[in-house]
Amino acid sequence: PIKMKYVSAKDSLIEKLESLGHERMVVLFFGSQTGTAEDLATRTMKTISNKLHIPGVVIDTDEYNMEELAELNDLGKDWLYGFFMATYGEGEPTDNSADFYSWIMDGNGIGSDKGDQEDHMTEEQICKGLNYFIFGLGNKTYEHFNAIARRLDARLTKLGAERVGPRGEGDDDDSMEGDYLKWEPQILSAISEYFGVAVDNTSQKSKPHVPLFKIEYVDSEPKFKGELSSGQPRSWNNNVENNAKSSYDIKHPYYSKFVVSEPLFKNASDSFRFPEHAVNINHSKVQVNDDHLTIPRQCYHIEFDLGSSGIKYKTGDHIGVYGNNSVESVEYLAKGLRIDDLDKVVKLAPNPDNALSSSAKSNLPAPCTIRTALTNYLDINAITKQHHLEIFAKYAKDPAEKKLLEELSDNREKYVAEVETQQKTLADILHEFPSIEESPNIVSVTAVVVRYALPHRHLNNGSKKVVVKDGLVTSFLERIHDHKEGKIDSRAIPAPEHIPNFHFPVYIRSSNFRLPKNLETPVVMVGPGTGVAPFRGFIRERFLHAQEGEKVGPTWLFYGCRNADSDYLYKNEFEQLLKEAADYDIDLKIITAFSRDTEKKVYVQHRVKEHANDIWNFLEIQSGNFYICGDAKNMAHDVNKELENIAISVGGMNEDGSKNWIKKLRTQGRYLEDVWS
Ligand code: 2AM
Repeated sequence: PIKMKYVSAKDSLIEKLESLGHERMVVLFFGSQTGTAEDLATRTMKTISNKLHIPGVVIDTDEYNMEELAELNDLGKDWLYGFFMATYGEGEPTDNSADFYSWIMDGNGIGSDKGDQEDHMTEEQICKGLNYFIFGLGNKTYEHFNAIARRLDARLTKLGAERVGPRGEGDDDDSMEGDYLKWEPQILSAISEYFGVAVDNTSQKSKPHVPLFKIEYVDSEPKFKGELSSGQPRSWNNNVENNAKSSYDIKHPYYSKFVVSEPLFKNASDSFRFPEHAVNINHSKVQVNDDHLTIPRQCYHIEFDLGSSGIKYKTGDHIGVYGNNSVESVEYLAKGLRIDDLDKVVKLAPNPDNALSSSAKSNLPAPCTIRTALTNYLDINAITKQHHLEIFAKYAKDPAEKKLLEELSDNREKYVAEVETQQKTLADILHEFPSIEESPNIVSVTAVVVRYALPHRHLNNGSKKVVVKDGLVTSFLERIHDHKEGKIDSRAIPAPEHIPNFHFPVYIRSSNFRLPKNLETPVVMVGPGTGVAPFRGFIRERFLHAQEGEKVGPTWLFYGCRNADSDYLYKNEFEQLLKEAADYDIDLKIITAFSRDTEKKVYVQHRVKEHANDIWNFLEIQSGNFYICGDAKNMAHDVNKELENIAISVGGMNEDGSKNWIKKLRTQGRYLEDVWS
């Protein structure tokens, strides 16, 4: 029989799994050295949840007592097990799976890490009744390519377990991501067959992203300041005699003193010529002359003192060193994320809106400051993964950016050429796609600065001068803008001392000025000048729905300003949207009236008249909505009048009838005004 290897202080696997309360689920174990296997396990869990609607949990093989694997079948649950196992070095298991691996391979106890110990293997079918799938991570340049996954696969079968679907094998030398993407649909279809459920292939694009965790701001001192876990050695290990392993390991590193460092290269520079001129390097060590960079090439000799740690080191062993991210890269990312206060204290809390949140476990030692998290706990300079781009696309507000992100997330070749080979980090992507933002939190304002000149006559001597009068808030907004651009200094916008820079008091007042709930309802909007502001939001919202494949009804905007070239607000944005509208099958029209480009003034109501038939059709036949935003005194009144004319000329009503018709639209909430004078 398989022997217990150590008196374990590890948590019970069975208790953990039962605590989640699922009759059917997938349990994904990982053996991971640098996090890739763990990432893929988590990603597979999410995919299974999204596409098969089966919950899952990701388990570190080091944290739970894996010997309970032998008892799982007795529980009578419909659970399927997945293994994501990396092969390390010369066909060795990762540190976090070493115990599990040596137990399952030979059950002979600690220290036996000989892989193919056929002789010692038990023949007992301790895993009978278990069903599993497996993905191995390895590197073809090593002799023992994916040895751990292959051996574990054979071993599980020998112990009576049955594999579902093909074994996946990722090759880090070529493309781990590509291998995973080839395997994922195969395993999904095998799992769907196993559970007897259909694969839900409705586009994930149209679904909002629901993160596993929410950031919570904490009103206390940070508990973690960059230390890795508790920094304490494991207690159970100390009780084991002749333990070849030290009590310090990858998760419990020893804080070793850096004693000596020495540069080894004598002539420490290298140069590099860029084909293009657009070189913008912000690094203190790099010198730029024209298209020529001088990059220091250096090699260091470094010594660490293991002191009294008791760590045994033999020639040929490896040392693992944890590093920090540089201040520059942390600040660069913070800028991309629009985080202006890195010293806020945060923690991650499971997001109840995500079905997987109950089994989610955050790896972030918290509470800690955002700065600590970005500096010490996150690999912020990793290359952005292709599936992350799909998430970013959901947050991109600019349609062109959104489209490009979607292409990058769909098209492997394009992604490899433009992101992977250029090693673009999360921060790089955020800087290149500035419209990625969490839309519910950003409110935009379109403000014309109220400003006019008045002649003053001096009361005593009758002399005249001209003074300029500024609107209170609009001119204040202009001062903020100028300050932000560095054109004026901070004295121009004094703020209470305790308020951080660029924070101003605002509030939201709720209104009835809303899009119809039914996306297919036509909307006709009239918004000259800054009256366009809400309609920009309306159009973007409808456009996003169309991009997500939903059917969106006619969306027509009548917009007026003085000149096509000077005060046409959001001109580029609208033109871009119009260009793409056909791609998403949305009847988007922006009908302009320029009042000062021609001798005779053309106003929005003139354009409304020109489109009388369509407007009648949208409003009366298709039960659409009509919106007016902007000047109340003249414009809204004139447009209203024009609509009455349409009811008469197209609808065949008399004057009273036309007035009643508009009254009816108003009471039905289909004629909506947001006007001011
Ligand atoms: P004007 O200033 O050239 O008269 C936004 O302010 C646009 O609304 C401008 O083109 C402005 O034209 C126009 N506008 C002014 N009065 C209007 C009215 N009564 N009806 C519609 N548009 C009007």
